[in-house]
Amino acid sequence: MVETSYKLGSETLPKTIIEPFRIKTVERLPQTTRDEREQYLQEAKYNPFKLRGRHITIDLLTDSGTGAMSAAQWAAMMTGDETYAGSESFFELESTVQELTGVQYVIPTHQGRSAEHILFSITSSGDSCVLANTHFDTTRANVEYFGGTAIDLVIEEALDPTSQHPFKGNIDLEKLEEHLQRLGDKVALVLMTITNNSGGGQPVSLENLRAASELAHRYGKPFILDAARFAENAWLIKQREPGQSSRSAREIAKAFFLLSDGFTMSSKKDGLVNIGGLLGLNDPELAEKARSLLILTEGLPTYGGLAGRDLAALAVGLEEVLDEAYLEYRIASIQYFHQLLNQHGIPLMHPAGGHAVYIDAQAFYPHIPPHEYPGLALANELYLEGGVRAVEIGTLMFGRPSPEGPDIPAPLELVRLTFPRRTYTQSHVEYIAEIMVQLFEKRDHVKGYRITKQSNILRAFTAELEPIFTKTGSLLS
Ligand code: F0G
Repeated sequence: MVETSYKLGSETLPKTIIEPFRIKTVERLPQTTRDEREQYLQEAKYNPFKLRGRHITIDLLTDSGTGAMSAAQWAAMMTGDETYAGSESFFELESTVQELTGVQYVIPTHQGRSAEHILFSITSSGDSCVLANTHFDTTRANVEYFGGTAIDLVIEEALDPTSQHPFKGNIDLEKLEEHLQRLGDKVALVLMTITNNSGGGQPVSLENLRAASELAHRYGKPFILDAARFAENAWLIKQREPGQSSRSAREIAKAFFLLSDGFTMSSKKDGLVNIGGLLGLNDPELAEKARSLLILTEGLPTYGGLAGRDLAALAVGLEEVLDEAYLEYRIASIQYFHQLLNQHGIPLMHPAGGHAVYIDAQAFYPHIPPHEYPGLALANELYLEGGVRAVEIGTLMFGRPSPEGPDIPAPLELVRLTFPRRTYTQSHVEYIAEIMVQLFEKRDHVKGYRITKQSNILRAFTAELEPIFTKTGSLLS
């Protein structure tokens, strides 16, 4: 898949990195015509979130809960223990997570955001702050829900799509120290999102994690990981960080978990399951408080909003995700897609990250201003041209409406093509690249959109839009 001829002992391995699995169960992909897609998109009010699954050929909206489970995971589903309190599947999961992360208290939740909700409800208050590289949207929303302030301190290179910095998820250590000093008691905790999803799926280096943990602890603050994509981050450390190539992804992951006081995890990503989350804590008092809240909102501490079979599948998924043949294929397939697009001059977020390729939609459509949503225009063209769904991460998602005029724009206009795990093959990747190249050739003629209906919070998921036409009904030229 990628040109990386390499040696294993004395043996030279082939250049092609293959999907390290064979397919036992298949699902037919929906096929639609261009006319049908035009109708579906119009019915969806030009918002891809409102499309129906059966009208989408390749769905790159998210890598969350959309991957394929292995035969071993399906087998574990069958033998999962549905005992209401004290399920054996919980104890298996608990020991897997303790072994993997070194954490003491393992609290299952139904997904990542419920772990966040519980964590911030016991650590955040009216005037507290959380310092992070970048908060994911649900993380920020949960901090703010409890009256706190979520502060992002990612390094400056992260905001430059062309920067080739290998660890664009790193936190700016000087800014972190300055905030710790200035905000003192107001700081509830330091949080590192690995990989940094909102910043392009970019990894955080072990060196940066070590330094951030040391700073947090020097100021007496808990150091917490948002570990949704911990295995991808570990693999990118192995590939990119000097001195780490001979360690296994598992050793690297253990090393960064040991720097932390706990973590939240959406298991729908690197847990390789369709539903699930985890809260890991070392502090017995915090864990006690978290468990009390868990009983109120999720369920008993030995199931936390999940069925026994979900816990069982997650225990297997957390082992499988650290299989290096899997991680090599996973990251190589993202790099391969990134390379295909880059060869054709398509403007991208560089370098390739963990779970997705991000297109710089503003550079793709420089003639569409942020308040006419160049990212949405590209996502919609991608659907119309090839039945592929992607997600806008720009002004529609993160901009703010302004009563005086156009929206206050987001810092970047991106489109995320997110790859579900173990789901699509190399030919799917090549098909999507072909469509993107066709769109790039026709880029001058594409128009923007205007919002016809929106809600006050998280508008991107429900907004209704229309293409910008002239009064005569033709597209503006
Ligand atoms: N943290 C990160 C870094 C995430 O990417 C997500 C979800 C969450 C927390 C919340 O987890 O969905 O299980 O409640 N990200 C998905 C995405 C939705 O598409 O990037 P959840």
